[in-house]
Amino acid sequence: MTGSLRLIGGACLALSMALVLIIDVNAESYNVGEASWTIPATTNELNYTSWAASINFRFGDELVFTYPYDLHDVLRVNHTDYDTCACGFPIASYSSGHDTIPLNDPGVTDYYFICGKPSHCFLGQKLKVSLVGLVPNSTEVDPQSTLNTPPSKSAAHLSTSLHGYIQLGISAALVLIVS
Ligand SMILES: *[C@@H]1O[C@H](CO)[C@@H](O)[C@H](O)[C@H]1NC(C)=O
Ligand SMILES: *[C@@H]1O[C@H](CO)[C@@H](O)[C@H](O)[C@H]1NC(C)=O
Ligand SMILES: *[C@@H]1O[C@H](CO)[C@@H](O)[C@H](O)[C@H]1NC(C)=O
Repeated sequence: MTGSLRLIGGACLALSMALVLIIDVNAESYNVGEASWTIPATTNELNYTSWAASINFRFGDELVFTYPYDLHDVLRVNHTDYDTCACGFPIASYSSGHDTIPLNDPGVTDYYFICGKPSHCFLGQKLKVSLVGLVPNSTEVDPQSTLNTPPSKSAAHLSTSLHGYIQLGISAALVLIVS
């Protein structure tokens, strides 16, 4: 009786460890530019193009823009408006000073952001992010939606992780049961 209770406890522990670890490995959060969202030349040598090129962004990752909300803002725009620094028709706009933006639009590989304050975009405060890896299109059902976590890795990678973490959880549970 005690043994089977321990077994159930161990199995629950294994499952929750697996879930916690899966959520943990699922999506990355990137602080834009590693620092604040600002005009590159004013405070540092930051180049958002180079910064974005140094990272493999994946579907489900998120960008965090941090900035003084009275000095800057964040506009998500299309390709044309990114190139021309046009602020009039943003897809979305953010101005909290700490904006978290998930990269999880179905079928969207490229995301464009500019600052809407006069001349900031022309001075280089603009960011293009291109996703690598699997980007589910709108007709696909997200297999992870029941866990409320957007997938950031490819399906193959995810199932490998899942398998590995369940094994880890089961091993941990066995150690507990045996002890
Ligand atoms: C981007 O948006 C602007 C303003 O709405 C529009 O004039 C332009 O055609 C759009 N470009 C693309 C590539 O959708
Ligand atoms: C950032 O670097 C890219 C090349 O990596 C260059 O084309 C661009 O002019 C630079 N931008 C600024 C604002 O220095
Ligand atoms: C969207 O996904 C479905 C199912 O995976 C696929 O059959 C279809 O070709 C995809 N469409 C596009 C535009 O990629």
